[in-house]
Amino acid sequence: MRNSSTFLAATLSIVVFLLIPEDLCEKIIGGNQVTPHSRPYMVLLDGGNICAGALIAKDWVLTAAHCSLNQKSQIILGAHSRSKEEPERQIMSVKKEFPYPYYDLDTHEGDLKLLKLNKKATLNKNVAILQLPKKGKDVEPGTACRVAGWGQFHNNSPVSDILREVNVTIIDRKICNDKSHYNHHPVIGLNMICAGSLQGGKDSCRGDSGSPLICKDTFRGITAFGIPGRCGDPRGPGVYTLLSKKHLNWIIKTMKQAV
Ligand SMILES: *[C@@H]1O[C@H](CO)[C@@H](O)[C@H](O)[C@H]1NC(C)=O
Repeated sequence: MRNSSTFLAATLSIVVFLLIPEDLCEKIIGGNQVTPHSRPYMVLLDGGNICAGALIAKDWVLTAAHCSLNQKSQIILGAHSRSKEEPERQIMSVKKEFPYPYYDLDTHEGDLKLLKLNKKATLNKNVAILQLPKKGKDVEPGTACRVAGWGQFHNNSPVSDILREVNVTIIDRKICNDKSHYNHHPVIGLNMICAGSLQGGKDSCRGDSGSPLICKDTFRGITAFGIPGRCGDPRGPGVYTLLSKKHLNWIIKTMKQAV
């Protein structure tokens, strides 16, 4: 899991070993810091664990189901730095959480959650909505995508103070499930998608969970998991919850029923 909660013993079964040269492990993992406020849909979930999300309506954030929140959690829009009191910030709290009802902690299926905020955001150049895709399509292997976050930029680093982003490529599910990758532990199913680099070194990491995966300017996935402690390892690319038809239908239905 890509938040900082203790990962489950069950996920230990997917741990593989590989040495990555230190110089490959920079930034988000292999990415760069973004121009401040250039990703205005990014939401920082700060409460014990660090997670991210995407603003999909004025008072709705889409994140990962495994991102746990508590009473004190702050939902920060318009953030660049985690520590600085930036004037662009809009700080909210969660009125209600809507985890995907079929989220499965063991198989990682359905790792998505909606957060209804306590108030509506004021949209401006620093705080903006990321449109959901019109269709819940699969994404072709080789497609160029990007993912941002305040997560670890090195397997042993603290989480990042500033927002970073990395370019990743969609990896074929067959490859992602094969013996030299996840080997079906867990199964990367049709509602999940792998992205990274076949050479490794480009990845999301702990603290980036919940962050949107954007492919050719379309929102396609939510940062879900990888091999704990092995971000950037080519054998365990980042796995994202796909905004498949099934997931998209649930998102739209849930938002409609709640208002
Ligand atoms: C990431 O991809 C974008 C679009 O293809 C490109 O313009 C940008 O230079 C890339 N960034 C890095 C750090 O490779």
